[in-house]
Amino acid sequence: MTDLSPLDSEAVEAAVADALADITLASTLDELKEARLAHTGDKAPLTLANKRIGGLDPADKAQAGKTMGKARGQLNQAIAARQEVLEQERDARVLVEETVDVTLPVNRHLQGARHPLETMQELMCDNFVAMGWEVAEGPEMEAEWFNFDALNFDPDHPAREMQDTFFIQPPNAGIVLRTHTSPVQVRAALERREALETEGRGIYVVCPGKTFRTDELDATHTPVFHQIEGLAVDKGLTMAHLKGTLDAFARSLFGPDAVTRLRPSFFPFTEPSAEMDLRCFVCNGEDSGCRTCSGTGWIEWGGCGMTHPNVLKAAGIDPEKYTAFAFGMGIERTLMFRHGVKDMRDMVEGDVHFSQQFGMEL
Ligand code: PHE
Repeated sequence: MTDLSPLDSEAVEAAVADALADITLASTLDELKEARLAHTGDKAPLTLANKRIGGLDPADKAQAGKTMGKARGQLNQAIAARQEVLEQERDARVLVEETVDVTLPVNRHLQGARHPLETMQELMCDNFVAMGWEVAEGPEMEAEWFNFDALNFDPDHPAREMQDTFFIQPPNAGIVLRTHTSPVQVRAALERREALETEGRGIYVVCPGKTFRTDELDATHTPVFHQIEGLAVDKGLTMAHLKGTLDAFARSLFGPDAVTRLRPSFFPFTEPSAEMDLRCFVCNGEDSGCRTCSGTGWIEWGGCGMTHPNVLKAAGIDPEKYTAFAFGMGIERTLMFRHGVKDMRDMVEGDVHFSQQFGMEL
């Protein structure tokens, strides 16, 4: 190809037409870039022709400058126009390609959820922590002494029989799976009796945790269940403090109108002992057909009482100087009547569909 002269306006126009054709034909931004480099790059015939203006006779420069200026102007304009069109096309395409179809089925892989027993347990503890109580823990595999003897159970108490309690091998090892959270009362008192004696710091603890009894799994029983235990030891504590604490607890879980009542009962480790009932929060005792309380107006919630002097003695605390109260509720039971869960097996099976319904409690 002969070198293009800036004075040969026909040849320049032909080169421009050539370039314009390439620019128009470019169907992508990459193709346009190629065309731009080919026709306006350092080695492009039109660029070289432009450079040659400098070597021309001064008389010809003006004409050549005009020709080349027009040619370059046409090219730049065409490139810019094509660039804009192609960018618009690309933007429109990207919008379509990257569209999210919100109607597509979601990821069906279920996310986990906290178990409602766990949430309930935390909610119960939070209520006491807010009142300044501590949360204590104890072992699930427990010495028979803590589970029974220290709690004033007779050596021949029926609860010590194999048909009620899981014993750890060998049979005379004196170790059981704790049948209630009450052994933690003794452990917590033993750990804190020094601060009680020397600093006058009253003992106020709750202990949530797993408990075990040799029940078959059915709608209302499970061999592994949960309780929350409460223990308060201080100077001058009475049944009135117990009742006040239980009422505050009930209100925190069942609303400001919640009411409890105590019925005489028996536990070896409390004297006097009581069963604690909760005024039915669904019918308030006004619906004889109520399904939550079976029409009785009251829901059995747990056991309680003034700690037996023998239990305080077992924990090294002088029952002449201090009095104490204790209570214990089933967490499964609470979940059942607070949330209308009919079958305890739902709490054991670990199906995430069950747990997900409970969401979060704040
Ligand atoms: N430990 C008793 C039970 O499992 C409940 C209870 C706790 C009763 C504390 C009185 C005081 O049934």
